[in-house]
Amino acid sequence: MGSVKRKLDRGPAALSTWGRAQYRLATVMDPTARAVESLLAFWADCGVDAALADATENRLAVGANPANGRPAVAEPLTAIPTTARESDTDLAIAQARAAAAGAESLAELEAAIAAFDGCALKAGARRAVFARGDPSAPVMIIGEAPGGDEDIQGLPFVGRAGQLLDRMLAAAGLGERVYITNTVFWRPPGNRTPTPAEQAICAPFLERAIALTAPKVLLLVGGASAKFLLGRSEGILTLRGRWFAWRSDDEALEIPALPTLHPAFLLRQPAAKKKSWADLLMLAERLDRPARRSERHTPD
Ligand code: URA
Repeated sequence: MGSVKRKLDRGPAALSTWGRAQYRLATVMDPTARAVESLLAFWADCGVDAALADATENRLAVGANPANGRPAVAEPLTAIPTTARESDTDLAIAQARAAAAGAESLAELEAAIAAFDGCALKAGARRAVFARGDPSAPVMIIGEAPGGDEDIQGLPFVGRAGQLLDRMLAAAGLGERVYITNTVFWRPPGNRTPTPAEQAICAPFLERAIALTAPKVLLLVGGASAKFLLGRSEGILTLRGRWFAWRSDDEALEIPALPTLHPAFLLRQPAAKKKSWADLLMLAERLDRPARRSERHTPD
């Protein structure tokens, strides 16, 4: 060990081939770290993105299975009847609609979001994260939810994934032509995917932002954004790269919408970047060509 240490002090070149391989494994490719990283990415891709369930489970209940300590039939301790949960959500949506409708400008809308208490995500977040970019831009990008960096800085897509998105937009000539926001305005705990109920509660604010900025097209970034806004159940790999029509709740607005992969996914799967790149070029091409009387999009 002492001789390896002495050799290491002189640099890895002083080591044998085996020693250099060990050195590389230890310093560059720590196998445990790589295994954990790969396992976490696999779980995230499977949708396992939170360590806490919504309802608590009484593992000490009478009748617990002695082998694993769990009740034979798991009974949530704090289960709220579905109808009560639904009416809470409906009430919050109605409150969000009223608050959003009263906003006559983006500044008023941002203030209304910050003052809104109907979304439970607010309790676990530092601040509301609304939007960044040019409000008069032809493209509105709608991501899923703010993450840790966004929660700190108060702006959407400013972390590693956002920086990758910015680089790709700039390379496609779209860097100055976007306004960026999310389906929900507070960071979900543990960066989990926002639930459809959370997205529905925030939707009136998002719709008002779309109405106030009137973008020509929407770029829906990530499965949770595309599925919620288009009301589709397919995965993002099926939805991406196809034009759909997004419609506002009252059907007064209809805007072409293109789903694409989330940049956080691209950080884990760099080989998928070419798919996102093709989507951005498709978007840029549609923006720059003369408007056609009827644009084709995937029928409902
Ligand atoms: N991911 C998103 O979907 N939105 C952000 O703002 C940041 C990361």
